[in-house]
Amino acid sequence: MLKKNEEYVVDIIDNGFQGEGIAKIDGITVFIDKAIKGEKIKIKILKVQTNFAYGKIIEILEKSVNRTEEDCHTYQRCGGCNLRHINYEETLNIKKSVVENCLYKALKRNVKVNDVIGMKNPLYYRNKLQYPVGIDKDQKAIMGVYSTRTHNIIPTNECFIQNKECQIIANDIFYFIKQNNIKPYDEKTLKGTVRHIIIRIGIKTNEVLVTLVLNDNNFNKEKELIEFLCKKHENIKSIVKNFNTKNTNVILGDKTEVIYGNGYIYDILGEYKFKISPLSFYQVNPLQTEILYNTAIKFLNDNTKNDVALDLYCGIGTIGIFASKYFKKVYGIEIVDQAIEDAKYNAKINKIDNIEFFAGDVEEILPKIIERENIKPSTVFVDPPRKGLDKNTIKVLQELKPSKIIYISCNPATLARDIALLEENYNLKEVQPVDMFPYTSHVECINVLHLK
Ligand SMILES: C[S@@+](CC[C@H](N)C(=O)[O-])C[C@H]1O[C@@H](n2cnc3c(N)ncnc32)[C@H](O)[C@@H]1O
Repeated sequence: MLKKNEEYVVDIIDNGFQGEGIAKIDGITVFIDKAIKGEKIKIKILKVQTNFAYGKIIEILEKSVNRTEEDCHTYQRCGGCNLRHINYEETLNIKKSVVENCLYKALKRNVKVNDVIGMKNPLYYRNKLQYPVGIDKDQKAIMGVYSTRTHNIIPTNECFIQNKECQIIANDIFYFIKQNNIKPYDEKTLKGTVRHIIIRIGIKTNEVLVTLVLNDNNFNKEKELIEFLCKKHENIKSIVKNFNTKNTNVILGDKTEVIYGNGYIYDILGEYKFKISPLSFYQVNPLQTEILYNTAIKFLNDNTKNDVALDLYCGIGTIGIFASKYFKKVYGIEIVDQAIEDAKYNAKINKIDNIEFFAGDVEEILPKIIERENIKPSTVFVDPPRKGLDKNTIKVLQELKPSKIIYISCNPATLARDIALLEENYNLKEVQPVDMFPYTSHVECINVLHLK
């Protein structure tokens, strides 16, 4: 029987979903943070549950050849990256086996998963920085990243996955907040003004959008902030205030107010230009996004020119717009109104007239739109949030019977669950992971399903 605080020497036999090492002691699975498959490690047991336990590394007795020097001083506590102690090539192998394991568990058979398409230079890739602002135990203002599974803020000067300029701008805003005694939000008392600083950059256009997430109306140094920031950073195209007064983990509130510029920026993906507003989803790694979309398009049939396609969970219309030239007509559906406004505008500026967008919950409006517009798609793209597809949408897809479903997923567990249901009518033909989030344990995956 395992006991808390006892020490053991274990062999790490695998890596789990969060990159953690897995060992077995007397048949009990033990998860060990930052241990790597193939290593022999002395561990201390931290917590024992009925069928599994958690341990921590005391000493690495035999090191994996894939272990690398940790280059980031906040890595041990930060909730962002969790694979920085492993060489990049090996992180891709781990992600591939995470997808294989999820599919195996749900489908009860081995599925061929292609090698993960990685990045040539997996550093500074994020186009969106969102740092919480708060107060430390000495009541001093603090800005940084949340430590793993907590809301404790770790001060962060440099992050190896965020765009460098976004970091400089965030540091400048934080300096301005401190200089002007603007109150950071205090999660304990729910008082204070600034909750989050969000900076988005168009990697191809270099345009910057700054969003200040505020808890109250006491941010009264707008003019001074605009002058201070825009003088230093000429590529700041817009600054907006977003109000979030709720006691919630959700970062953005519903209401935004533009205080400088138009309230949006542009970026370019492939041959298309996209307008991005503060409340709209936009992929955080645009270099890999082009690869993701082009790979999805590559899986289309040769001739779909007379066909109709659906782009479900379409965000600002990116996948539908990429696909539009291969189809007679494309329909997109998305729940965020502002994203649908962006999508319609994006179709217009890219001179695409065979695409139509609808705002609403896919579960609710998909059946209505199919009936009203008499849509018979040959291809359906789905790119849902982490929770995957709902049962009603799966049922609608089963009845609609498009010859191909291209399922883009950011969560292999819900993906596998949904594929198990779709397999009643579909064969899974291709599984292609793309590394959208290097050094984190997140895995993005394109899956191609053919009608039986
Ligand atoms: C992973 S993102 C994909 C967006 C887009 N396809 C892209 O590549 O940028 C998922 C999108 O689904 C939207 N969404 C979430 N729940 C939804 C629902 N129930 N109905 C419609 N859209 C939803 C989100 O707002 C978000 O834009």
